[in-house]
Amino acid sequence: MTAAAAAGSAAAPARITLSGVTKRFITPRASVDALGPLTLDVAEGEFVVLVGPSGCGKTTLLNLVAGFETATDGEVRVDGAPVAGPGPDRAMIFQESALFPWLNIEDNVAFGLRQHARMSATERRAVALEYLRLVHLEGFEHAFVHELSGGMKQRAALARALAPRPRALLCDEPFGSLDALTRERLYAELQELHARTRRTTLFVTHNTREAACLADRVVVLTSRPATIASVLAVDLPRPRNFYDPRVSELAGEILAHLRAEPTPSNGGRDA
Ligand SMILES: Nc1ncnc2c1ncn2[C@@H]1O[C@H](COP(=O)(O)OP(=O)(O)OP(=O)(O)O)[C@@H](O)[C@H]1O
Ligand SMILES: [Mg+2]
Repeated sequence: MTAAAAAGSAAAPARITLSGVTKRFITPRASVDALGPLTLDVAEGEFVVLVGPSGCGKTTLLNLVAGFETATDGEVRVDGAPVAGPGPDRAMIFQESALFPWLNIEDNVAFGLRQHARMSATERRAVALEYLRLVHLEGFEHAFVHELSGGMKQRAALARALAPRPRALLCDEPFGSLDALTRERLYAELQELHARTRRTTLFVTHNTREAACLADRVVVLTSRPATIASVLAVDLPRPRNFYDPRVSELAGEILAHLRAEPTPSNGGRDA
């Protein structure tokens, strides 16, 4: 596989299906119904943004699709096959970049490629560099994590997630800790990346303008346990500008849907 091939045409994007999924956490102190029942079908290559009150169960939903958690009831399927655990077909990006501080940026990106047994070290390096170029980090391949800004770290995390060509990308408030200007640049980059690679994407955010800017579909969740309150299809042309009045208008609409959902006052815990 050439680096160009790796960065260009992606493996076929995944279809993600949740059918009647619930998640209950039982701890020594409480039983928490965190999710569902929730049914959601995410089409191949679709970019779905999840918004919902704090503590409603968004991260739980992503963790179920990633295979980090198992559903209490119902089924999570990727291309019809039940999710039995984490796999290289699904990559997750977190609020904090979760890069390995002991590896330089190139080695961080190449890390996930080690599972491609047929790739030589030289090929892995070439693919890592190609993805670093895609996220505009060329020249920083030998830098260590502490030498990067917050935005650069998130771009490196994006490159690391995309390099093994996952079929689905799960993003948990990936830009939440960044300043406004960096975020806006990343919206443009993420849209460009999505247009090129078409990974099926589930993206969690609290920022309604971000949701309007990125989504094919916005799913508004209820307060815990998260079920679907409403779904807004977004058919604005791409690439979208963060300051486009139509994006603002849609963000206002999403906010109105969100306001209809009470935020849990008990910090998200059952007594
Ligand atoms: N491992 C766990 N054990 C027990 N309870 C948990 C666990 N993980 C999550 N919860 C509970 O499940 C509920 C949903 O949590 P989750 O992290 O999914 O919310 P969220 O929508 O991502 O919130 P936020 O917007 O603040 O990130 C919360 O009440 C939380 O306390
Ligand atoms: Mg969360």
